[in-house]
Amino acid sequence: MKARIIGTGSHVPEKIVTNHDLAKLVDTSDEWIRERTGIIERRVSSEATATSDLAIVAAEKAIAKAKVSPEEIEVIIVCTTSPDTLFPSVACILQDKLKAVNAAAFDLSAACAGFNYGLAVASSLIEAGRHKTILLVGADTLTKYLDWTDRGTCILFGDAAGAVVLKADQDHGVISNFWKAEGWLGQSLVMPGGGSRDPENKHGRFIRMDGREVFKFAVRALESSVNEVLKGAGRGLSDITLLIPHQANIRIIDHVIKKMGLSKEKVYVNLHKYGNTSAASVPLALDEAAAEGKIKSGDLVILSGFGAGLTYGANAIIW
Ligand code: ACO
Repeated sequence: MKARIIGTGSHVPEKIVTNHDLAKLVDTSDEWIRERTGIIERRVSSEATATSDLAIVAAEKAIAKAKVSPEEIEVIIVCTTSPDTLFPSVACILQDKLKAVNAAAFDLSAACAGFNYGLAVASSLIEAGRHKTILLVGADTLTKYLDWTDRGTCILFGDAAGAVVLKADQDHGVISNFWKAEGWLGQSLVMPGGGSRDPENKHGRFIRMDGREVFKFAVRALESSVNEVLKGAGRGLSDITLLIPHQANIRIIDHVIKKMGLSKEKVYVNLHKYGNTSAASVPLALDEAAAEGKIKSGDLVILSGFGAGLTYGANAIIW
């Protein structure tokens, strides 16, 4: 059995923050941000909006498209590093709101690689015959953890949620996963405060990043995850219909596809509208690509992600 995506959904907050808005906060410009990242604007959630508030809307849309009942859902996995609370998990909050009374529910923490890690876990549960219907969500509100005086990070991130419903299927679905971590590089992208090392948040619950180190890793991670997942699937680069990479920086994507020899038409990009939405970036892009008719039944779709940890991963899907 394979894990087939039978419904997708996404949701972003209403508020748009443009590069021009950010240039009023820090010493930056629209031109610099566009040139160095490709980002033009991002969505920022209100103070009252938590990650589960975005996740529930994305999940309900995916469930409606999949035409499954909440009772059929056996597992809920929410990939996030910005949960409403350390516990209960966002997945348990969704279970309650959805009335998915028969489900197990847990959060998965792999930052921007989260959705690809989650898909590896969910598809393995389905392939093993343990479960038939799984709700997988990627959702983050990292703008709540930005230092709005740090121009190296506050320009990059946005908030969003994306969701898929996976169902056991004989023919279509995930045909290979790749996942890996390089924990020894973890200090290059850190949220120092708020955890058990600093429960009183003395070091600040803000993202600290060595942009150049993460950039070098991201280029390597994107290329190797695509190569590895293709190898696992027994396919080549020319078989790809659509590559959906983590939407962090257009320079990372352009550099890698040029090196690999993949044409731009085969790569989905929406980061100019949303910035880096962490675990939501890949399912949000997947939902938009599907809605735009960019993927047809039988196509080979490759998803890839990389992020804090440092983590990276990819999935190959026969749509
Ligand atoms: N506006 C203007 N100037 C800036 C800005 C800004 N917003 N940010 C940095 N600069 C300056 C720097 O201070 C530096 O100035 P200096 O030369 O006088 O010291 C200069 O621009 C160059 O800085 P770099 O850091 O080398 O800039 P770079 O081209 O590397 O771009 C960026 C920075 C955009 C952060 C890039 O490194 C990047 O995208 N890194 C990867 C981030 C990423 O992909 N993260 C994904 C994982 S996120 C997660 O998992 C949560």
